Amino acid sequence: MADYHKRREVLLRTLKKRKLPGMLVTDDMNVTYLTGFTGDSTFLLLTPEKALLISDPRYTTQIEEECPDVEATIRSTSNVPMKTAVAEAVRSSKLRSLAFEADHLSTATHAEYAAALEGVELTPTSGIVVEQRAVKDADELAEIRVAIDLAERSFRAVTAALRGDMTEAQAAAEMEYRIRMLGGRGFAFDPIVGVGPRSALPHGRAGETRFEESTFCLFDWGARKTLYRSDITRLVVYGKLPAKIEKIYAIVLEAQRLAIEKIGPGVSTREVDSVARKHIADAGYEKKFGHGLGHGIGIAIHEQPRFSALTDTTLAPGMVVTVEPGIYLPGVGGVRIEDDVLVTAKGAEVLTSLPRDLDACVVSL
Ligand code: GLY
Repeated sequence: MADYHKRREVLLRTLKKRKLPGMLVTDDMNVTYLTGFTGDSTFLLLTPEKALLISDPRYTTQIEEECPDVEATIRSTSNVPMKTAVAEAVRSSKLRSLAFEADHLSTATHAEYAAALEGVELTPTSGIVVEQRAVKDADELAEIRVAIDLAERSFRAVTAALRGDMTEAQAAAEMEYRIRMLGGRGFAFDPIVGVGPRSALPHGRAGETRFEESTFCLFDWGARKTLYRSDITRLVVYGKLPAKIEKIYAIVLEAQRLAIEKIGPGVSTREVDSVARKHIADAGYEKKFGHGLGHGIGIAIHEQPRFSALTDTTLAPGMVVTVEPGIYLPGVGGVRIEDDVLVTAKGAEVLTSLPRDLDACVVSL
């Protein structure tokens, strides 16, 4: 079992530094990260004295099984609103001030809680747990490695079984089947499968286009065994590649190589993004690379840190990020190459193992 107690201790230290005596964690993924509980509609009240899950009878047994080291209060959903259960828990903890996750509480809900918790100062916080989640511990890293392995094995199986009359959606279905048969829970996110010109849609969903309608296809997919996710993109080639695609492939590959080379502890996310972006811009495709260079992965598919010109996070050992430059030519096609990379004490380790050279992308239908 992961060391949830240690994660809560780290969070409590952060809260102490900010002079916050307790926190109400309301984001499902943050609750999971801090307790191991995988259900929903459940909040965590964390103080130095205790960790208390506030949940309902659907989850009584699940909490006992998943979080044996955490206390729980189970409210009846028929007559005890969540805000009342929270207010009771806060009052019995004698808290006069409570931090809450401003990113996950609507203005209307905040007003309700402020009324229910009259006399308790509500302090908005932003991103405290999400920042902690950016650096993975050994258990998380092990789960991400498994998720990558599942994704890669499913990709190899699907690319070996591709047929010309198969549609993008059928290839995606086949891939999900393989992930599940290999013991995974499924995709990490709705996969992107784009044949030919459809690969120019950076987030094009798998549709009814058949592989035989072109000579190449972009796959962007990931898997998860349980909670943690992987995220990979590869081009698959099964015929003569248009010269424009071949050209941009080489540019994107080099942009990715430069970015990975730049990654290391103490480096700013903006610098890493700019290395890849400059290479693509120098080649004349600045306007054809419109998204950030990558993002953290973990329980969520998009986590901290993010690579873009707008961010300035300092990379630290234990962060796991995607590096995914791309060039998209509407009507022709797009190339994105994406790998998952661990920031180490000395630099970076590429966790994904699928080859990236264009020769290695060739499959037969
Ligand atoms: N690779 C898919 C995404 O980042 O949304």
